[in-house]
Amino acid sequence: MSPATVALVTGGTSGLGLAVADRLMTSGVTPVVIGRNEERGRCALRTLGGSAVFVRGDVASEPDVTKALDIATQHGSLRIVVNCAGVPHAARVVGRSGPHPLQQFADVITANLVGTFNVVRLAAERMMANPPTEQERGVIVNTASSAAFDGQVGQAAYAASKGGMVSMTLPLARELAGSLIRVVTVAPGFFETPAVASVPAEARRELDRDLMHPQRWGNPAEFAELVAHIVGNPMINGETIRIDGAVRMSPGLRRRSS
Ligand SMILES: NC(=O)c1ccc[n+]([C@@H]2O[C@H](COP(=O)([O-])OP(=O)(O)OC[C@H]3O[C@@H](n4cnc5c(N)ncnc54)[C@H](O)[C@@H]3O)[C@@H](O)[C@H]2O)c1
Repeated sequence: MSPATVALVTGGTSGLGLAVADRLMTSGVTPVVIGRNEERGRCALRTLGGSAVFVRGDVASEPDVTKALDIATQHGSLRIVVNCAGVPHAARVVGRSGPHPLQQFADVITANLVGTFNVVRLAAERMMANPPTEQERGVIVNTASSAAFDGQVGQAAYAASKGGMVSMTLPLARELAGSLIRVVTVAPGFFETPAVASVPAEARRELDRDLMHPQRWGNPAEFAELVAHIVGNPMINGETIRIDGAVRMSPGLRRRSS
């Protein structure tokens, strides 16, 4: 009997990552979800049930990701990695209390971009040991954002972190092609998740003005369905796919010059 297919899903304890873990389970995949919060992890396992596994860890930490990969490979053949871990962030380059704190910029880049790359590099090495099935050893899906393309006022750090993910997609796919590993990025628009529950009502109304069709925010299950398609379609590689109902974000709230 061939070993179970395992998917490592970062940020899989909530929002888009949790929906992906849930969707992959319906295809018989064992999800190993990484998150920083133990309580959220327990809660996710209650939601997912079945064979799902939780590992507490920070995606930007080499020891944490190595531990998660060790656990993942104990549960079967690691053939899928979906990077959903990420932090939102908004701050002006020069705000009321002065210039954008440099450490905040570095922290956002670390959580979103360095963390994703850390998982990609360590997971790709494990995938290279897989025997090919249907001419591939694995697929890696990263999660960027519409902000990679049309970042708003206050999104310099966040947009830079997501833009970096878009830019590294092709070189990663080109390099890992020789190992039969695909790399794809998904760039979501507005999706209803715990991360956006904290968006203030005024900002939410601003964002709603940019909706095209459908005139609503996305459901995490719709994001998960795209990821499941990418996993199953070997011709999708080296590309960033927007899933945003044609939303192109407006510049956002600009300060008037006085
Ligand atoms: N929800 C949206 O509308 C939207 C839009 C565009 C992009 N995204 C991106 O999609 C991804 C998922 O977002 P979401 O809306 O589901 O948010 P979410 O907050 O529900 O989920 C993100 C998860 O990542 C975890 N996380 C953050 N930093 C981590 C780290 N260093 N190590 C381990 N785990 C970490 C968080 O704890 C959280 O569980 C994020 O990368 C986000 O930037 C979301």
